Amino acid sequence: MSLINQPTISTNGIVRPTLVEVELGRLKENFTAICQHVAPAKVMPILKANAYGHGLVPVAQWMESLGADYIGVAVLEEGILLREQGIQTPILVLGGILGNQVPGFLKHNLTITASSAEKLCQIEEAAEQLGVRARVHLKIDTGMERVGVHYYSAESFLETALKCRHIDLEGIYSHFANADELDLTHARLQLERFLEVLSFYEKRSLPPPPLRHMANSPAILQLPEATFDLVRPGLLFYGVYPSREMPRTVAVQPALSWKSRVVYFKVIQPGHPVGYGSAWQTDHMVRAVTVPVGYGDGYFRNMSGKAQVLLRGKRYPVVGRISMDQVVVNIEWDSAYNDDEVVLIGEMGGEAITCQDLADWAGTIPYEILTNINTRVPRIYI
Ligand SMILES: Cc1ncc(COP(=O)(O)O)c(C=O)c1O
Repeated sequence: MSLINQPTISTNGIVRPTLVEVELGRLKENFTAICQHVAPAKVMPILKANAYGHGLVPVAQWMESLGADYIGVAVLEEGILLREQGIQTPILVLGGILGNQVPGFLKHNLTITASSAEKLCQIEEAAEQLGVRARVHLKIDTGMERVGVHYYSAESFLETALKCRHIDLEGIYSHFANADELDLTHARLQLERFLEVLSFYEKRSLPPPPLRHMANSPAILQLPEATFDLVRPGLLFYGVYPSREMPRTVAVQPALSWKSRVVYFKVIQPGHPVGYGSAWQTDHMVRAVTVPVGYGDGYFRNMSGKAQVLLRGKRYPVVGRISMDQVVVNIEWDSAYNDDEVVLIGEMGGEAITCQDLADWAGTIPYEILTNINTRVPRIYI
């Protein structure tokens, strides 16, 4: 399968040399590895923010073809786009909602996160008016203070949910604030609080909603007791570990490579500074190449002076400030030619530059690197 994600910029079918390659086979392997690790629990891959930069629609199509039980996105518009593109798999929208968005959820058969009794009532009313049933997951805040009903006042929320006649209560969930730390004290406290909330059903001899869930990627890796009926991997599904320290209890491999090509070759004389701010210069003559990628593509400017790329199987430093659309790479006295492939994230000749490397250079996390690769960078699926 080879297709190009929209929107993209192409001239007569020739795509920009700076592009992202997504290996769908790796997404499949990662998904399978996570499914095996958490079985019999189900797996809901998280496809928000353009599927963590991998391309929302093609990744959703791929997951649907692989028979995923559920897909998670963050906002209503992501869900609607998927429905408009023909995706039929159940889709949970994870984010907080406004009352006026509820009809949009119902018309597109999207599962709603209800994060207060008031929102439950708005959903119930809208479903009754439209003559449909609403699919709902209840959101419990166990220690994140973002959206959700606090664990200590969840009882009346759960009572209200039981009374709704136009709602199918499919799930109940919570989210970890710091399951990615090695000290899991707070995560375990959150888990205890969630279990306490769930005991509501046992105390009343009622079945709980069929999908109880809490685990994101770090919890899948290091808190197996938080697996419940379903897990919600984002980063791990794309083959990236949340940090260098995280135990690698599930083997995954990155599905995304970010590549470009040499568009210019030159020799730089000593004392001739490179780029904006003249921030770098050489004290000896070097060869350098220009690569058409920059912070306008999501190649962060604050990686200037730190970033490296792979070219002809070797690592070379990006020198001078990263511009909006271009960077300069110092190859000292090695050879390179126009059109040579340059790897920004990925493997070449036994060397690899990872998303975590870029995150370290930029002083951020891999999540931010992936989700910031701009849509002007075409995505190619292999
Ligand atoms: C509610 C929720 N669940 C799951 C995820 C996936 O997280 P991760 O990428 O760490 O697996 C996110 C992402 O932030 C989220 O907000």
